[in-house]
Amino acid sequence: GEDPRLARIASAIRVIPDFPKPGILFQDITTLLLDTKAFRDTIDMFVERYRDMNISVVAGIEARGFIFGPPIALAIGAKFVPMRKPKKLPGEVISEEYSLEYGTDRMEMHVGAVQAGERAIVIDDLIATGGTLSAAIRLLERVRVDVVECACVIELPELKGRARLEDMPLFVLVKAA
Ligand code: PRP
Repeated sequence: GEDPRLARIASAIRVIPDFPKPGILFQDITTLLLDTKAFRDTIDMFVERYRDMNISVVAGIEARGFIFGPPIALAIGAKFVPMRKPKKLPGEVISEEYSLEYGTDRMEMHVGAVQAGERAIVIDDLIATGGTLSAAIRLLERVRVDVVECACVIELPELKGRARLEDMPLFVLVKAA
C-alpha cells in the first residue's frame, strides 16, 4: 500500500481559494513547514529516493525549491544550486526563457556552479504547467549536466505538466486538484 507518511504530508498542505487571483486554488506549503513531523517526512522521502543514485547536484527553483532543496542536498551529500529569477545572481549567468499564462519569464543559473557530466535532480514545491521545470532542465542540459529526475511535493495533474517534461521522470508526493 501507500506510504503512511503521505496522508499526513497531504493534509498538512493548506489550500487557499482565490489566491493570488479569483479561481485559483493555491497550494500553500507554509503549513507543511509548521508541522515538524510532516516536514521531516517530506525531506526523508526525497532523501530515501535519491541517496543511492549518485546525485551530485540538487538544483532548486526559486522560491519554494529553496526550502526543500537544501536539506535534501545536505542529506545526500550533493551541492545545492539555486535557479533564480532574472537579475538576482551576482556572477556570470546563463538563462532560459519560459512561457507563463500571460507573457514570459526567465530563469538564471551561475556559470561554473555545475560541471559537464554531473548528475542532478531538480526540485520545486509544485508542478502546474511544467514550464518552470522544463526551463530548469534546459539550463542544466545546455551545460551537459545529466538531469536524472525532477521532484516536487505537489503535482496538479489536470494541468498536464508531466507531458511538457517529455521523457524526464517526475517524482511527486501529493497529487492535488
Ligand atoms: C510556482 C511554483 C512553481 C511554478 C510552477 O511558482 O512554486 O515554481 O509556479 O508552475 P508551472 O509548472 O506552471 O511552471 P510561482 O510562479 O508562484 O513563483 P514563486 O515561487 O517565486 O512565488
